[in-house]
Amino acid sequence: MKKFYITTPIYYVNDKPHVGHAYTTLVADVFARYYRNTLGGENVFFLTGTDEHGQKIAEAAVTAGKSPQEFTDEVAGQFQKAWELLNISHDHFFRTTDKRHINLVQEILQSLYDNGYIYKGAYKGLYCVGCERYILPDEADENRCPLHPNKTLDEREEENYFLKLSELAPEVLRMLEEDRYRVLPVEKKNEILAKVRAGVKDISISRTGVPWGIPLPWDQEHTVYVWIDALFNYYTATKFLSGREHFWPADVHLLAKDILWFHAFIWEALLHAVGLELPKIVFAHGFFTVDGQKMSKSIGNVIDPAMLVERYGVDGARYLLVSAFPFGNDGDISLARFDEKYNADLANGIGNLASRVAKLCEKVGLGGFSMSDAEEVDGRIAEAFARVSPDEALSYIWERVTELDKRINEDAPWKLEGKSLSEVLRMYVCRLIGIARDCSPFMPLSSQRLIDVFTADAITKPDGLFARLEKKTQ
Ligand code: MSP
Repeated sequence: MKKFYITTPIYYVNDKPHVGHAYTTLVADVFARYYRNTLGGENVFFLTGTDEHGQKIAEAAVTAGKSPQEFTDEVAGQFQKAWELLNISHDHFFRTTDKRHINLVQEILQSLYDNGYIYKGAYKGLYCVGCERYILPDEADENRCPLHPNKTLDEREEENYFLKLSELAPEVLRMLEEDRYRVLPVEKKNEILAKVRAGVKDISISRTGVPWGIPLPWDQEHTVYVWIDALFNYYTATKFLSGREHFWPADVHLLAKDILWFHAFIWEALLHAVGLELPKIVFAHGFFTVDGQKMSKSIGNVIDPAMLVERYGVDGARYLLVSAFPFGNDGDISLARFDEKYNADLANGIGNLASRVAKLCEKVGLGGFSMSDAEEVDGRIAEAFARVSPDEALSYIWERVTELDKRINEDAPWKLEGKSLSEVLRMYVCRLIGIARDCSPFMPLSSQRLIDVFTADAITKPDGLFARLEKKTQ
Protein backbone atom coordinates (compact mmCIF):
# COMPACT_ATOMS: atom_id res chain seq x y z
CA MET A 1 0.00 0.00 0.00
CA LYS A 2 1.31 3.42 -0.94
CA LYS A 3 1.95 5.78 1.99
CA PHE A 4 2.66 9.48 2.17
CA TYR A 5 4.66 11.17 4.94
CA ILE A 6 4.99 14.95 4.83
CA THR A 7 6.68 17.30 7.29
CA THR A 8 7.11 21.01 7.94
CA PRO A 9 10.11 22.47 9.73
CA ILE A 10 9.63 22.52 13.46
CA TYR A 11 9.44 26.21 14.26
CA TYR A 12 11.48 28.04 16.87
CA VAL A 13 9.42 29.06 19.83
CA ASN A 14 11.30 32.29 20.50
CA ASP A 15 8.32 34.15 19.09
CA LYS A 16 4.70 33.55 18.13
CA PRO A 17 3.79 32.21 14.67
CA HIS A 18 3.60 34.57 11.72
CA VAL A 19 2.31 34.19 8.24
CA GLY A 20 5.65 32.79 6.97
CA HIS A 21 5.30 29.77 9.26
CA ALA A 22 1.64 29.55 8.33
CA TYR A 23 2.51 29.38 4.63
CA THR A 24 4.67 26.24 4.87
CA THR A 25 2.26 24.58 7.30
CA LEU A 26 -0.74 25.35 5.15
CA VAL A 27 0.85 23.95 2.00
CA ALA A 28 1.79 20.78 3.91
CA ASP A 29 -1.83 20.57 5.05
CA VAL A 30 -3.06 20.86 1.46
CA PHE A 31 -0.80 17.94 0.51
CA ALA A 32 -1.85 15.85 3.50
CA ARG A 33 -5.54 16.41 2.72
CA TYR A 34 -5.05 15.68 -0.96
CA TYR A 35 -3.28 12.38 -0.26
CA ARG A 36 -5.78 11.41 2.42
CA ASN A 37 -8.49 11.82 -0.21
CA THR A 38 -6.59 9.78 -2.78
CA LEU A 39 -4.75 7.18 -0.63
CA GLY A 40 -6.98 6.96 2.44
CA GLY A 41 -6.43 8.64 5.81
CA GLU A 42 -4.48 5.84 7.46
CA ASN A 43 -1.83 5.99 4.73
CA VAL A 44 -0.90 9.61 5.37
CA PHE A 45 1.23 11.01 8.16
CA PHE A 46 1.53 14.78 8.49
CA LEU A 47 3.97 16.08 11.08
CA THR A 48 4.60 19.62 12.30
CA GLY A 49 5.77 21.02 15.61
CA THR A 50 8.18 23.23 17.50
CA ASP A 51 11.94 23.43 18.00
CA GLU A 52 12.37 24.24 21.65
CA HIS A 53 16.00 23.89 22.72
CA GLY A 54 19.06 26.08 22.29
CA GLN A 55 20.48 29.41 23.23
CA LYS A 56 18.02 31.52 21.25
CA ILE A 57 15.03 30.03 23.09
CA ALA A 58 16.78 30.17 26.46
CA GLU A 59 17.48 33.89 25.91
CA ALA A 60 13.90 34.58 24.81
CA ALA A 61 12.67 32.86 28.00
CA VAL A 62 14.92 35.08 30.15
CA THR A 63 13.58 38.18 28.38
CA ALA A 64 10.03 36.99 29.06
CA GLY A 65 10.92 36.37 32.71
CA LYS A 66 9.98 32.70 32.50
CA SER A 67 11.70 29.36 32.85
CA PRO A 68 12.55 27.81 29.47
CA GLN A 69 9.96 25.05 29.95
CA GLU A 70 7.23 27.47 30.98
CA PHE A 71 8.09 29.73 28.08
CA THR A 72 8.21 26.96 25.46
CA ASP A 73 4.92 25.52 26.73
CA GLU A 74 3.32 28.90 26.24
CA VAL A 75 4.66 29.59 22.74
CA ALA A 76 4.15 26.01 21.54
CA GLY A 77 0.52 26.52 22.64
CA GLN A 78 0.31 29.63 20.46
CA PHE A 79 1.49 27.64 17.45
CA GLN A 80 -1.08 24.95 18.15
CA LYS A 81 -3.81 27.56 18.40
CA ALA A 82 -2.78 29.19 15.15
CA TRP A 83 -2.90 25.84 13.35
CA GLU A 84 -6.32 25.13 14.79
CA LEU A 85 -7.53 28.47 13.48
CA LEU A 86 -6.22 27.67 10.00
CA ASN A 87 -7.82 24.22 10.12
CA ILE A 88 -4.47 22.42 9.88
CA SER A 89 -4.93 18.66 10.05
CA HIS A 90 -1.54 17.47 11.34
CA ASP A 91 -1.47 13.97 12.79
CA HIS A 92 0.94 14.91 15.55
CA PHE A 93 2.31 18.14 16.99
CA PHE A 94 5.95 17.46 17.75
CA ARG A 95 7.89 19.16 20.54
CA THR A 96 11.62 18.59 20.93
CA THR A 97 11.21 18.72 24.71
CA ASP A 98 9.26 15.46 24.47
CA LYS A 99 11.08 12.94 26.66
CA ARG A 100 10.64 10.18 24.09
CA HIS A 101 12.45 12.27 21.48
CA ILE A 102 15.22 13.18 23.93
CA ASN A 103 15.87 9.52 24.76
CA LEU A 104 15.98 8.52 21.11
CA VAL A 105 18.33 11.37 20.13
CA GLN A 106 20.68 10.30 22.92
CA GLU A 107 20.55 6.71 21.74
CA ILE A 108 21.25 7.65 18.13
CA LEU A 109 24.14 9.95 18.97
CA GLN A 110 25.66 7.36 21.25
CA SER A 111 25.62 4.87 18.39
CA LEU A 112 27.23 7.40 16.04
CA TYR A 113 29.90 8.04 18.67
CA ASP A 114 30.48 4.32 19.22
CA ASN A 115 30.79 3.82 15.47
CA GLY A 116 33.49 6.46 15.17
CA TYR A 117 31.52 9.18 13.35
CA ILE A 118 31.97 11.69 16.15
CA TYR A 119 35.20 13.05 17.66
CA LYS A 120 36.22 15.84 20.02
CA GLY A 121 37.89 18.97 18.64
CA ALA A 122 38.12 22.73 19.03
CA TYR A 123 36.08 25.26 17.14
CA LYS A 124 36.74 28.92 16.64
CA GLY A 125 34.41 31.09 14.64
CA LEU A 126 31.65 33.67 14.45
CA TYR A 127 28.34 32.48 15.85
CA CYS A 128 24.91 33.88 14.96
CA VAL A 129 22.40 33.20 17.73
CA GLY A 130 19.53 34.18 15.39
CA CYS A 131 20.42 31.35 12.99
CA GLU A 132 21.83 29.14 15.73
CA ARG A 133 24.89 28.43 13.61
CA TYR A 134 28.44 29.48 12.86
CA ILE A 135 28.73 31.94 10.00
CA LEU A 136 31.68 31.53 7.68
CA PRO A 137 33.86 34.61 7.13
CA ASP A 138 32.80 34.89 3.47
CA GLU A 139 29.10 34.77 4.44
CA ALA A 140 29.43 37.61 6.97
CA ASP A 141 28.68 41.11 5.86
CA GLU A 142 30.88 43.57 7.82
CA ASN A 143 30.90 41.17 10.72
CA ARG A 144 27.14 40.77 10.66
CA CYS A 145 24.91 37.88 9.64
CA PRO A 146 23.01 38.81 6.44
CA LEU A 147 19.78 37.39 7.94
CA HIS A 148 20.16 39.10 11.32
CA PRO A 149 21.92 42.39 10.59
CA ASN A 150 20.74 44.01 13.81
CA LYS A 151 22.71 41.55 15.96
CA THR A 152 26.47 41.32 16.31
CA LEU A 153 28.15 37.98 15.73
CA ASP A 154 29.77 36.36 18.76
CA GLU A 155 33.38 35.38 18.40
CA ARG A 156 33.57 31.94 19.96
CA GLU A 157 36.14 29.37 20.72
CA GLU A 158 34.98 26.17 22.30
CA GLU A 159 35.57 22.49 22.59
CA ASN A 160 32.93 20.66 20.59
CA TYR A 161 32.20 17.24 19.35
CA PHE A 162 32.32 17.03 15.56
CA LEU A 163 30.56 14.90 13.00
CA LYS A 164 32.87 13.57 10.28
CA LEU A 165 30.90 15.29 7.56
CA SER A 166 33.89 15.54 5.24
CA GLU A 167 34.24 11.76 5.34
CA LEU A 168 30.53 11.21 4.68
CA ALA A 169 30.31 13.87 1.97
CA PRO A 170 31.45 11.95 -1.15
CA GLU A 171 28.85 9.21 -0.67
CA VAL A 172 26.04 11.67 0.09
CA LEU A 173 27.08 13.76 -2.91
CA ARG A 174 26.83 10.68 -5.10
CA MET A 175 23.35 9.92 -3.77
CA LEU A 176 22.24 13.46 -4.56
CA GLU A 177 23.78 13.32 -8.03
CA GLU A 178 21.93 10.07 -8.67
CA ASP A 179 18.64 11.51 -7.35
CA ARG A 180 18.45 8.85 -4.66
CA TYR A 181 16.96 11.75 -2.75
CA ARG A 182 15.63 14.71 -4.70
CA VAL A 183 16.20 18.33 -3.86
CA LEU A 184 13.66 20.62 -5.51
CA PRO A 185 13.30 23.01 -7.26
CA VAL A 186 16.21 21.89 -9.42
CA GLU A 187 18.10 25.21 -9.09
CA LYS A 188 18.27 24.49 -5.39
CA LYS A 189 19.71 21.05 -6.04
CA ASN A 190 22.38 22.68 -8.18
CA GLU A 191 23.21 25.12 -5.40
CA ILE A 192 23.72 22.27 -2.97
CA LEU A 193 25.80 20.29 -5.47
CA ALA A 194 28.06 23.30 -6.05
CA LYS A 195 28.45 23.90 -2.33
CA VAL A 196 29.40 20.28 -1.64
CA ARG A 197 31.78 20.11 -4.59
CA ALA A 198 33.54 23.23 -3.29
CA GLY A 199 34.45 21.25 -0.18
CA VAL A 200 32.77 20.34 3.07
CA LYS A 201 34.26 20.58 6.54
CA ASP A 202 33.32 18.57 9.61
CA ILE A 203 30.58 20.23 11.66
CA SER A 204 30.28 20.61 15.36
CA ILE A 205 27.32 18.79 16.85
CA SER A 206 27.54 19.80 20.50
CA ARG A 207 27.74 22.92 22.62
CA THR A 208 29.12 23.72 26.03
CA GLY A 209 27.50 26.51 28.01
CA VAL A 210 24.05 25.91 26.53
CA PRO A 211 22.30 24.02 29.32
CA TRP A 212 18.86 24.23 27.61
CA GLY A 213 19.41 21.21 25.40
CA ILE A 214 19.83 17.44 25.31
CA PRO A 215 22.97 16.30 27.22
CA LEU A 216 25.37 14.08 25.29
CA PRO A 217 25.14 10.70 26.97
CA TRP A 218 28.91 10.17 27.10
CA ASP A 219 29.84 13.72 28.13
CA GLN A 220 27.23 15.58 30.15
CA GLU A 221 29.18 18.85 29.92
CA HIS A 222 27.89 19.10 26.35
CA THR A 223 24.41 19.45 24.96
CA VAL A 224 23.42 18.39 21.45
CA TYR A 225 23.62 21.24 18.96
CA VAL A 226 20.03 22.37 18.51
CA TRP A 227 19.99 21.76 14.75
CA ILE A 228 20.99 18.12 15.15
CA ASP A 229 18.37 17.65 17.87
CA ALA A 230 15.76 19.29 15.61
CA LEU A 231 16.46 17.40 12.38
CA PHE A 232 15.98 14.08 14.11
CA ASN A 233 12.36 14.97 14.92
CA TYR A 234 11.34 13.75 11.47
CA TYR A 235 12.61 10.30 12.29
CA THR A 236 12.03 9.98 16.05
CA ALA A 237 8.31 10.76 15.63
CA THR A 238 7.92 7.67 13.45
CA LYS A 239 9.67 5.62 16.14
CA PHE A 240 7.86 6.72 19.28
CA LEU A 241 4.35 7.12 17.92
CA SER A 242 2.62 3.81 17.73
CA GLY A 243 1.89 2.44 14.28
CA ARG A 244 3.98 5.06 12.49
CA GLU A 245 7.25 3.18 12.02
CA HIS A 246 6.51 2.22 8.42
CA PHE A 247 6.19 5.88 7.43
CA TRP A 248 9.97 6.37 7.40
CA PRO A 249 11.49 7.63 5.08
CA ALA A 250 9.65 10.92 4.65
CA ASP A 251 8.12 11.45 1.22
CA VAL A 252 8.35 15.24 1.36
CA HIS A 253 10.17 17.59 3.71
CA LEU A 254 8.81 21.09 3.08
CA LEU A 255 10.80 24.13 4.18
CA ALA A 256 12.00 27.49 2.93
CA LYS A 257 15.34 28.16 1.35
CA ASP A 258 16.83 29.63 4.57
CA ILE A 259 17.30 26.17 6.01
CA LEU A 260 17.94 24.12 2.91
CA TRP A 261 21.57 23.27 3.61
CA PHE A 262 20.62 21.54 6.85
CA HIS A 263 17.83 19.63 5.15
CA ALA A 264 19.45 18.83 1.83
CA PHE A 265 22.87 17.74 2.99
CA ILE A 266 23.58 17.58 6.73
CA TRP A 267 20.39 15.64 7.38
CA GLU A 268 21.20 13.06 4.70
CA ALA A 269 24.75 12.70 5.99
CA LEU A 270 23.41 12.01 9.48
CA LEU A 271 20.90 9.48 8.19
CA HIS A 272 23.51 7.79 6.08
CA ALA A 273 25.84 7.52 9.08
CA VAL A 274 23.04 6.03 11.19
CA GLY A 275 22.17 3.62 8.36
CA LEU A 276 18.67 4.93 7.73
CA GLU A 277 16.92 5.52 4.43
CA LEU A 278 16.99 9.03 3.01
CA PRO A 279 13.90 11.19 2.47
CA LYS A 280 12.49 11.13 -1.04
CA ILE A 281 11.97 14.83 -1.69
CA VAL A 282 13.32 17.91 0.05
CA PHE A 283 11.43 20.89 -1.31
CA ALA A 284 12.54 24.45 -0.58
CA HIS A 285 10.02 27.17 -1.26
CA GLY A 286 10.78 30.87 -1.44
CA PHE A 287 10.58 33.62 1.08
CA PHE A 288 7.88 36.16 1.04
CA THR A 289 8.02 39.80 1.80
CA VAL A 290 5.17 42.04 2.83
CA ASP A 291 4.59 45.14 0.72
CA GLY A 292 8.08 44.71 -0.69
CA GLN A 293 9.80 44.52 2.68
CA LYS A 294 11.16 41.67 4.73
CA MET A 295 8.69 40.78 7.44
CA SER A 296 10.13 42.01 10.69
CA LYS A 297 8.96 43.18 14.05
CA SER A 298 10.96 46.37 13.91
CA ILE A 299 9.39 47.39 10.58
CA GLY A 300 6.03 46.46 12.08
CA ASN A 301 4.78 44.53 9.04
CA VAL A 302 4.52 41.08 10.59
CA ILE A 303 1.24 39.52 9.51
CA ASP A 304 -0.52 37.46 12.12
CA PRO A 305 -2.33 34.48 10.55
CA ALA A 306 -5.26 35.15 12.91
CA MET A 307 -5.72 38.55 11.31
CA LEU A 308 -6.00 36.93 7.86
CA VAL A 309 -8.58 34.48 9.16
CA GLU A 310 -10.56 37.30 10.68
CA ARG A 311 -10.48 39.30 7.46
CA TYR A 312 -11.03 36.56 4.87
CA GLY A 313 -12.41 33.61 6.81
CA VAL A 314 -10.36 30.47 7.24
CA ASP A 315 -10.80 29.20 3.69
CA GLY A 316 -10.33 32.67 2.23
CA ALA A 317 -6.99 32.96 4.07
CA ARG A 318 -6.01 29.47 2.91
CA TYR A 319 -6.87 30.23 -0.70
CA LEU A 320 -5.07 33.58 -0.75
CA LEU A 321 -1.88 32.21 0.77
CA VAL A 322 -1.60 29.15 -1.46
CA SER A 323 -2.41 31.09 -4.62
CA ALA A 324 -0.25 34.11 -3.76
CA PHE A 325 2.63 33.06 -6.02
CA PRO A 326 4.20 29.94 -7.52
CA PHE A 327 5.37 27.58 -4.82
CA GLY A 328 9.16 27.65 -4.84
CA ASN A 329 9.51 31.30 -5.87
CA ASP A 330 10.01 34.35 -3.71
CA GLY A 331 7.05 36.66 -3.69
CA ASP A 332 5.45 39.65 -2.15
CA ILE A 333 2.10 39.72 -0.41
CA SER A 334 0.01 42.76 0.36
CA LEU A 335 -3.35 43.10 2.02
CA ALA A 336 -4.56 45.41 -0.75
CA ARG A 337 -3.86 42.68 -3.32
CA PHE A 338 -5.39 40.02 -1.08
CA ASP A 339 -8.56 42.13 -0.80
CA GLU A 340 -8.78 42.43 -4.56
CA LYS A 341 -8.13 38.74 -5.16
CA TYR A 342 -10.61 37.74 -2.48
CA ASN A 343 -13.35 39.72 -4.17
CA ALA A 344 -12.39 38.63 -7.68
CA ASP A 345 -11.80 34.90 -7.16
CA LEU A 346 -13.93 34.08 -4.15
CA ALA A 347 -16.77 36.57 -3.67
CA ASN A 348 -17.37 37.33 -7.37
CA GLY A 349 -15.81 34.06 -8.49
CA ILE A 350 -16.80 30.78 -6.95
CA GLY A 351 -19.17 32.32 -4.37
CA ASN A 352 -21.22 34.15 -6.97
CA LEU A 353 -21.12 31.23 -9.37
CA ALA A 354 -22.46 28.82 -6.77
CA SER A 355 -25.22 31.14 -5.68
CA ARG A 356 -26.30 31.90 -9.27
CA VAL A 357 -26.59 28.23 -10.09
CA ALA A 358 -28.25 27.35 -6.78
CA LYS A 359 -30.81 30.12 -7.22
CA LEU A 360 -31.83 28.83 -10.64
CA CYS A 361 -32.01 25.25 -9.31
CA GLU A 362 -34.16 26.44 -6.43
CA LYS A 363 -36.51 28.13 -8.88
CA VAL A 364 -37.07 24.96 -10.88
CA GLY A 365 -36.97 22.65 -7.83
CA LEU A 366 -33.85 20.67 -8.78
CA GLY A 367 -32.07 18.36 -6.30
CA GLY A 368 -31.10 14.80 -5.43
CA PHE A 369 -27.60 14.86 -6.95
CA SER A 370 -24.81 12.78 -5.44
CA MET A 371 -21.01 12.74 -5.53
CA SER A 372 -21.07 10.21 -8.32
CA ASP A 373 -22.66 12.86 -10.55
CA ALA A 374 -19.52 14.99 -10.26
CA GLU A 375 -17.51 15.47 -13.40
CA GLU A 376 -14.29 13.49 -13.60
CA VAL A 377 -11.15 14.59 -11.80
CA ASP A 378 -8.88 16.71 -13.96
CA GLY A 379 -5.72 14.61 -14.44
CA ARG A 380 -3.55 17.72 -14.35
CA ILE A 381 -4.28 18.11 -10.64
CA ALA A 382 -2.54 14.85 -9.73
CA GLU A 383 0.40 15.80 -11.92
CA ALA A 384 0.68 19.20 -10.25
CA PHE A 385 0.69 17.57 -6.80
CA ALA A 386 3.36 15.12 -7.92
CA ARG A 387 5.47 18.10 -9.03
CA VAL A 388 4.89 19.77 -5.63
CA SER A 389 3.00 22.63 -7.30
CA PRO A 390 -0.09 23.23 -5.18
CA ASP A 391 -0.69 26.68 -6.64
CA GLU A 392 -0.79 25.12 -10.10
CA ALA A 393 -3.30 22.49 -9.00
CA LEU A 394 -5.43 25.31 -7.64
CA SER A 395 -5.16 27.27 -10.87
CA TYR A 396 -6.55 24.28 -12.83
CA ILE A 397 -9.59 24.28 -10.58
CA TRP A 398 -10.00 28.00 -11.09
CA GLU A 399 -9.81 27.57 -14.84
CA ARG A 400 -12.93 25.47 -14.51
CA VAL A 401 -14.62 28.05 -12.31
CA THR A 402 -13.97 30.73 -14.95
CA GLU A 403 -15.03 28.43 -17.78
CA LEU A 404 -18.29 27.57 -16.11
CA ASP A 405 -19.00 31.22 -15.40
CA LYS A 406 -18.41 32.02 -19.06
CA ARG A 407 -20.54 29.12 -20.19
CA ILE A 408 -23.45 30.32 -18.06
CA ASN A 409 -23.17 33.81 -19.52
CA GLU A 410 -23.24 32.33 -23.02
CA ASP A 411 -26.14 29.98 -22.30
CA ALA A 412 -28.14 32.73 -20.58
CA PRO A 413 -30.20 30.11 -18.69
CA TRP A 414 -32.47 32.81 -17.27
CA LYS A 415 -33.94 33.00 -20.76
CA LEU A 416 -34.49 29.23 -20.96
CA GLU A 417 -37.43 27.23 -19.72
CA GLY A 418 -38.59 23.66 -19.18
CA LYS A 419 -36.44 20.77 -20.36
CA SER A 420 -33.68 22.85 -21.90
CA LEU A 421 -33.33 24.82 -18.65
CA SER A 422 -33.14 21.75 -16.43
CA GLU A 423 -30.66 20.13 -18.83
CA VAL A 424 -28.15 22.99 -18.62
CA LEU A 425 -28.68 23.29 -14.88
CA ARG A 426 -27.89 19.60 -14.44
CA MET A 427 -24.66 20.08 -16.31
CA TYR A 428 -23.73 23.10 -14.15
CA VAL A 429 -24.42 21.20 -10.93
CA CYS A 430 -22.29 18.21 -12.03
CA ARG A 431 -19.45 20.57 -12.80
CA LEU A 432 -19.86 22.46 -9.55
CA ILE A 433 -19.85 19.29 -7.46
CA GLY A 434 -16.59 18.33 -9.21
CA ILE A 435 -15.09 21.75 -8.52
CA ALA A 436 -16.17 21.55 -4.88
CA ARG A 437 -14.65 18.07 -4.50
CA ASP A 438 -11.34 19.23 -6.00
CA CYS A 439 -11.26 22.29 -3.73
CA SER A 440 -11.42 20.20 -0.60
CA PRO A 441 -7.67 20.06 0.21
CA PHE A 442 -7.46 23.82 -0.19
CA MET A 443 -10.74 24.97 1.33
CA PRO A 444 -12.12 22.03 3.27
CA LEU A 445 -15.03 23.77 4.95
CA SER A 446 -16.32 25.66 1.93
CA SER A 447 -15.88 22.60 -0.22
CA GLN A 448 -18.10 20.60 2.12
CA ARG A 449 -20.58 23.45 2.26
CA LEU A 450 -20.83 23.51 -1.55
CA ILE A 451 -21.21 19.76 -1.67
CA ASP A 452 -23.98 19.93 0.92
CA VAL A 453 -25.78 22.62 -1.08
CA PHE A 454 -25.61 20.80 -4.41
CA THR A 455 -26.30 17.30 -3.15
CA ALA A 456 -29.31 18.32 -1.05
CA ASP A 457 -32.69 16.83 -1.92
CA ALA A 458 -33.78 20.30 -2.86
CA ILE A 459 -31.06 22.77 -3.82
CA THR A 460 -31.43 26.17 -2.19
CA LYS A 461 -29.35 29.32 -2.53
CA PRO A 462 -26.63 29.38 0.15
CA ASP A 463 -26.13 32.48 2.27
CA GLY A 464 -22.83 34.18 2.94
CA LEU A 465 -20.49 31.95 0.97
CA PHE A 466 -17.47 34.24 0.55
CA ALA A 467 -19.35 37.44 1.26
CA ARG A 468 -17.93 40.44 -0.55
CA LEU A 469 -15.40 42.47 1.40
CA GLU A 470 -16.48 46.01 1.94
CA LYS A 471 -13.78 48.58 1.35
CA LYS A 472 -11.60 48.57 4.46
CA THR A 473 -9.15 51.21 5.49
CA GLN A 474 -5.90 49.53 6.35
N1 MSP B 1 13.80 25.59 13.97
C1 MSP B 1 14.29 25.71 12.65
C2 MSP B 1 13.83 24.55 11.78
C3 MSP B 1 14.25 23.20 12.25
S1 MSP B 1 13.56 21.94 11.27
C4 MSP B 1 14.39 20.56 11.68
C5 MSP B 1 13.81 27.02 12.04
N2 MSP B 1 12.71 27.54 12.56
S2 MSP B 1 12.02 28.92 12.08
O1 MSP B 1 11.01 29.21 13.07
O2 MSP B 1 12.99 29.92 11.83
O3 MSP B 1 11.25 28.55 10.77
C6 MSP B 1 11.82 28.65 9.50
C7 MSP B 1 10.77 28.27 8.49
O4 MSP B 1 9.59 29.09 8.62
C8 MSP B 1 11.19 28.48 7.04
O5 MSP B 1 11.99 27.44 6.55
C9 MSP B 1 9.83 28.54 6.38
O6 MSP B 1 9.30 27.24 6.33
C10 MSP B 1 9.03 29.37 7.36
N3 MSP B 1 9.18 30.81 7.12
C11 MSP B 1 9.58 31.74 8.04
N4 MSP B 1 9.54 32.97 7.46
C12 MSP B 1 9.12 32.89 6.20
C13 MSP B 1 8.87 33.83 5.15
N5 MSP B 1 9.04 35.12 5.31
N6 MSP B 1 8.47 33.32 3.97
C14 MSP B 1 8.27 31.99 3.78
N7 MSP B 1 8.49 31.10 4.73
C15 MSP B 1 8.91 31.51 5.94
O7 MSP B 1 14.41 27.47 11.08
